[in-house]
Amino acid sequence: MKKVKKVKIAPSILSADFSKMGEEVRSLEECGADMIHCDVMDGVFVPNITFGIKMVADLRKVTSLPLDCHLMIVHPENFVEKFAAAGADIITVHYEACKDNLADVLKQIKGAGARCGAVINPDTPVSAIANAIPLCDMVLVMSVFPGFGGQKFISSVLEKVREIRALIDGLGLDIDVQIDGGINEETAALAREAGANILVSGNTIFKAESRAEMIGKLKA
Ligand code: DX5
Ligand code: ZN
Repeated sequence: MKKVKKVKIAPSILSADFSKMGEEVRSLEECGADMIHCDVMDGVFVPNITFGIKMVADLRKVTSLPLDCHLMIVHPENFVEKFAAAGADIITVHYEACKDNLADVLKQIKGAGARCGAVINPDTPVSAIANAIPLCDMVLVMSVFPGFGGQKFISSVLEKVREIRALIDGLGLDIDVQIDGGINEETAALAREAGANILVSGNTIFKAESRAEMIGKLKA
C-alpha cells in the first residue's frame, strides 16, 4: 500500500512582526506549527531584503521546531555552512541561483549536517532539477514568484507538483514536497491533492483571527 504522508504546516515568518520575532515563533509553536519557514532574501536574487544567519541563530534559542531556511540569495554556496551552524534544520536553495552547481550545493548542505532541498520558481520546469531530486530531502515548488508574501497562488504549478510526486514515488524515495506562496484553505486542498505534503503559509496564518484554528484547518 502506498504510504500517505501526513501534511505539515510551515508558517512563514515573513508575515510576522519583525520587532517581536521570538514571541511570534513561540506563538506559532503553541498554535501547532510543524516547522518554522524562514525566508532569507538578499535584495539581489529577489527584490526584497529580510534577515540572515543571526536571526536563525537567535530563533534557535527560542524554539525546538525545525527551522526551514528558504534561501533566496545569490551564491548560496557561500552561506550554507553558516546557516547550518546557526541551527538551520533544513536548507533549501533555488535552482535559478545554483544552476549547474545545484547537486554540489545540495551535497554541501548535507555535509554541513542539515537536510537539503531544491527550489524551483513558477516558470522553471521540473526537468531542470530532475537529476538532483534523489539528492534532496525535500523539493520546494514556488507557487508565486519569490520576494513577497500575500501574492496570488499560481495554479499552473500544481502540474509540476504532480510530476515531482510521481517521480519521487516512481523512484521509491521518501522525499517531502513543499509548496510556497498563496496558500489558503482552498489552495491548500489543491496542493495536497496534487501531492504536496508540506504547506508554507504566511499571510493566511498571520491574518487569521485564530492562528491555531487556521493551522488546524490547513492541516485537516
Ligand atoms: C515568498 C516567500 C513565501 C511567502 C509566503 O517569497 O518565499 O514563503 O512568505 O507567504 P504567503 O503565504 O503570504 O504567500
Ligand atoms: Zn519561502
